[in-house]
Amino acid sequence: MAHDKLTIAVLGPGGIGGLLAALLARAGHRVVCLAGDETAAALDAHGIRVRSGRFGDFTVRTQAATTLREPVDAALVTVKHTTLDTALDRLPAAALGDALVVPFLNGVEHPDVLRTRYPADRVAPAVIRAESTRVAPGVIDHGSPFAEIDLAGDTVPRDRLERLARALSEAGPTTRVLDDETAALWAKMSFLAPFALLTTRHGVPIGDIRTRYRDELTALVEETAAVSGACGGPADPAGALARYDAFPPGTKSSMQRDAEAGRPLELDAIGGALLRAAQRHGVAVPVTARLVRDLTR
Ligand SMILES: NC(=O)c1ccc[n+]([C@@H]2O[C@H](COP(=O)([O-])OP(=O)(O)OC[C@H]3O[C@@H](n4cnc5c(N)ncnc54)[C@H](OP(=O)(O)O)[C@@H]3O)[C@@H](O)[C@H]2O)c1
Repeated sequence: MAHDKLTIAVLGPGGIGGLLAALLARAGHRVVCLAGDETAAALDAHGIRVRSGRFGDFTVRTQAATTLREPVDAALVTVKHTTLDTALDRLPAAALGDALVVPFLNGVEHPDVLRTRYPADRVAPAVIRAESTRVAPGVIDHGSPFAEIDLAGDTVPRDRLERLARALSEAGPTTRVLDDETAALWAKMSFLAPFALLTTRHGVPIGDIRTRYRDELTALVEETAAVSGACGGPADPAGALARYDAFPPGTKSSMQRDAEAGRPLELDAIGGALLRAAQRHGVAVPVTARLVRDLTR
């Protein structure tokens, strides 16, 4: 199976989806991008153009459609939370058959949403560490020197995960299969939530957050770690702080970039989900609650 080629649908060929679609297509897999009329037409006309220090600059053809109408091996879900419900209409369960459904969204609640629509044992959540931006339909800037994926899915057959992970790794992003879905999702959430909430609230990059707003950052990291630990995820506040300290000072979160551009924020999927988990487990999160309140105004 090492050399087999997959058929892969990508729902939402934006920063992450466009990058993965292009890399997989370049590696010889059959890729069908599912998008709205305008973006589907742009992909049909010009393909996907990627600019990446890590993977090179290239243009590749993929198929594009507005709704999935054929069986695939896997469907990567790469829209934002704010459009997830409507976008999923392009991915009818009946067309998917036995395909894996692999969401790359940040947050922790979307796998349950997907499991209400698709077979529970085919939903395999992924976490991606990368920075990639859709600058126009079909034009993707992959800015980070890295792209790493963790793929999980507690009830998904291991060989299906391994097969997709191999295809992704061979196409570019280093991909691991992890045993514990909850831990994988909360590991990302624990890092992301303090970074996203604080950079967006104060409108400054990480360098200013870790100096001017150090106390707030420390408190938020501790609250997030406590919630993560209560949910069965990792709880390593010192490790999270050390990672923020290692980031280039000008780094902005994608929530902050969305706020600057006037786009809807994934606030409910990140801050809201954190508050709901804290409430469920009786963890006090006063700093998180205040920040989410401030950002909701
Ligand atoms: N970008 C990153 O570096 C990064 C890193 C880690 C995790 N993430 C997470 O990955 C997820 C995706 O983020 P992103 O930055 O890739 O978002 P994005 O660049 O905005 O891409 C989302 C794509 O979804 C498409 N879309 C929106 N509504 C749709 C619909 N109803 N039907 C079909 N397609 C639809 C958009 O289409 P149009 O092109 O037509 O607007 C766009 O191409 C988010 O949860 C984010 O937090 C992102």
